[in-house]
Amino acid sequence: MHPHPIHDFQYKNGELYCEGVKVSAIVKKIGTPVYIYSYKTIVEHFRKIKEAFKPIDPVICFAMKANSNLAVLKALVNEGAGFDIVSGGELKKARLVKADMKKIAFASVGKTDEEIVDAVKAGILFFNVESKPELENIDRIARKMKKRVQVALRINPDIDSPTHEKINTGSLKKKFGIDLKTARAIFIGQKAYKNLLINGVHIHIGSQITHAEPFLAAIEKALAFIDELEMDGVKVDYFDIGGGLGIIYQNETPQTAKEYADKVLPLLKGRKFKVLMEPGRFIVGNAGIFITRKLYLKDNGVKKFIIVDAGMNDLVRPSMYGSYHEIIPVKKAGGRNVVCDVVGPICESGDVFAHDREVANVKDGELLALLSAGAYGYVMSSNYNVRPRSAEVMVKGNKWAVVQEREDFKDLIKGASIPEFLK
Ligand code: LLP
Repeated sequence: MHPHPIHDFQYKNGELYCEGVKVSAIVKKIGTPVYIYSYKTIVEHFRKIKEAFKPIDPVICFAMKANSNLAVLKALVNEGAGFDIVSGGELKKARLVKADMKKIAFASVGKTDEEIVDAVKAGILFFNVESKPELENIDRIARKMKKRVQVALRINPDIDSPTHEKINTGSLKKKFGIDLKTARAIFIGQKAYKNLLINGVHIHIGSQITHAEPFLAAIEKALAFIDELEMDGVKVDYFDIGGGLGIIYQNETPQTAKEYADKVLPLLKGRKFKVLMEPGRFIVGNAGIFITRKLYLKDNGVKKFIIVDAGMNDLVRPSMYGSYHEIIPVKKAGGRNVVCDVVGPICESGDVFAHDREVANVKDGELLALLSAGAYGYVMSSNYNVRPRSAEVMVKGNKWAVVQEREDFKDLIKGASIPEFLK
């Protein structure tokens, strides 16, 4: 079975359950493909971080980009979570679940005027600003709105983190953050920005980082930067240490929240600033599975393929990053395994969930579960090949509910039209 020590997806009598609900019973009602989330796993992971960091009581801003299903967000708001948001749409979702606006940090290298206005109106805690032109724009907008807004500068600590190239953000070769020299000049010269209070420092060095060392290096660099600022008379009220905590997909041995806290807390305890964190994957990654149906087993004489009814449009991580998601049968198949590629129906050779993997050779029409699909799964899905997005379900104990309906064809052609000149 799966190596994850921490989740609520278990076999009972050879049948996969999410908490107290049989996965096959959910599929019977609503079909495939479907994402299934365990409420308990989500909440437990949030609490693990909260507990581990209790001595400094940080604001835990769930990185909504990892999973913005409204039920998931509501479950976290009920636990006291804030949000790290990156768009006007995410702000609107935060409002829908009645999030505390004073626990919201807004990052993104490309905030539009409209997004900035909405966030100022909403009264978010602060903007994580990623460039000088953006800073000037927020100041201009705040002046027009007769508001003074709080800003944290996302500094780029210029650290290479050992993770996938596409999710490594902490080096100056990437678009993120402001180099230390420019950031320092902005803090010191902040009187120039009359409608801003530049009183926060933000870092985020990348995602799926399994060991504390890169985080520690970045935090130490940021603290040295904060110390220098304070010597220059600049007051830093907030330090946002970002997200990025890695999880188990295959055989990783990531730090636990407690191990991470034990290393980080000594650096942060006793400081005057309030600490914010932005975990995404750590909270929801292992809390979701993705269910697909086997259609066919194809054998071309060279290779075997299990063809399923979900594709890269539903879960793009394997195609995009070569990510590993464990694949297990929803009903144990009794030891029949096959080495094959598990592929979707999309017209691209990259539409592959697993390469040369030994998987249970379930019968045609039976179900497979892709594990650890709760983060960057549904949120990254698309309609490529005119395919509807899948449904999402949340399970809590013995209860379950559809928390996002499957799209239908009407959704796919919404707003589309054929102009008169073609008729
Ligand atoms: N804060 C900022 C500023 C971020 O850019 C991110 C993620 C997070 C927090 C949350 O990081 P986490 O705790 O989830 O690692 N689609 C990719 C991951 C992209 C991460 C983008 N930024 C994947 O599927 O692996």
